[in-house]
Formats: sequence, structure tokens, C-alpha cells
Amino acid sequence: MGHEKIETNIGLMMVLIVFVISIGGLVQIVPLFFMESLIKPVDNLKPYSALELAGRDIYIRESCMVCHSQMIRPFRAETERYGHYSVAGEFVYDRPFQWGSKRTGPDLHRVGGRYSDEWHYAHLMNPRDVVPESVMPGYPWLADSLIDGEEVQYRMQALKDWFGHPYTDEQIKNAPAAVEGKTELEALVAHLQNLGTSIKTTR
Ligand code: HEC
Repeated sequence: MGHEKIETNIGLMMVLIVFVISIGGLVQIVPLFFMESLIKPVDNLKPYSALELAGRDIYIRESCMVCHSQMIRPFRAETERYGHYSVAGEFVYDRPFQWGSKRTGPDLHRVGGRYSDEWHYAHLMNPRDVVPESVMPGYPWLADSLIDGEEVQYRMQALKDWFGHPYTDEQIKNAPAAVEGKTELEALVAHLQNLGTSIKTTR
């Protein structure tokens, strides 16, 4: 009886279909907002320093994510190569995430500390100077422009006000001084050297 009413009334059927499907969706999605392991920062995670934050913005501006992911999957082939797989609590201060889905180059989530700063400078200026077969483009202009301290300060304040990143007033006040005279190249390398260093890894 009831069925006939539903099957002959497409509007009602659509409403009921959406209702039924959303229960399935909500059962999967809602608990994720409350699971400690997903929303709590891992123990050593600190919000990005002024210089690292500036470097991260350059990473995004230069579209490094087009060729690099920042997300190590929990498979042996990945953990042997890159180190411990990525866990949700490491990305709490990443807005937006740079997980990515395309790997023309290697994953970068645990590249922090793997090479010296000098290696990164040389590599970013012209990758083929250190990796002869590399297809990565060079970014020599990063060495010529300086970081805008006020902009970094503004971003830190916004991250604190809007998303609750735990910056102290002191850190925000000192942001312009912290990046004073630093090039975009230095900021980007500071960001790379910090990547994935908040949990102990096997390599
Ligand atoms: C066209 C694709 C492409 C783009 C865009 C690109 N890369 Fe790469 N990257 C590669 C490839 C391929 C490699 C491996 C060869 C090498 O080391 O140069 C690599 C290697 C690296 C490595 C060394 C990783 C390791 O574990 O050995 C770092 C660090 C890196 N890239 C950073 C960056 C940054 C930062 C940017 C943006 C400014 C960037 N890449 C943009 C393709 C790319």
C-alpha cells in the first residue's frame, strides 16, 4: 500500500532516497569529527614558524603539489622508501592540506632532515646539478625575492583567530623580525626541512 504511494510519487521517492543514503553517510562521517586520533595534534607538532609558514605559501604558489604528494600511505613499499606512514594528527595545522594525489616526483612528507639545506638550495636552483636525470623544473627566482613580514604576520593572526592555531602574541609580534631579510628560497627550504619531523620515523 505505502509502497505504491512512494513508487508513483517521484518527489516523495527522491526525498526518501536522500534520507536513507544520508544515514549511511552520516554514520561514516560524523564519528570522524570526534575521534581523538584524527583531531588531536601528535605530541611534538608545533604550528608552523613564521618562516616555515611563508615557505609553505610558496610551495602552494609554485604548485609543487602538482608533482609531489605529502601523504605516505600505510603500505610496505611506501614505508620502506619514505619512512613512517602519515597519520592524521600530523596535519592539524595544515590549511589547506597538501596531500596530493599525483607523484611525478617522490612523496615529500618525510623529506625534513633527509638532505642538508645546501643540497636543497642547489636542487631548487637547478635540480640537474645534484640529480642529473631529474625532470623537476628549477626555481631560481626564489633566491631573488624577499619574504613580506607583514603578510606572514597577518596570516598567523588569521590562523589563530579563525582556526585556533596556538600562536602566542609574542610569536605573532615577532613574525616580521623572524623573516626579515630572508629569501623565498630560504623560507621554502625551512618548510621542507620541517616536513614530517614531528613523529619518530624509522629512517
Ligand atoms: C614537473 C614535476 C615537478 C615539480 C613541479 C616539482 N618537482 Fe620536485 N621533484 C620532481 C622529480 C621528478 C623529483 C626526483 C628527481 C630529483 O630529485 O630532482 C623531484 C624531487 C624533489 C625533491 C627531493 C625529494 C627526495 O626525497 O629526494 C624535493 C625536496 C623536491 N622535489 C621539492 C620540490 C618543490 C619544493 C617544488 C616546488 C617549488 C617541486 N619539487 C616541484 C618533480 C617535480
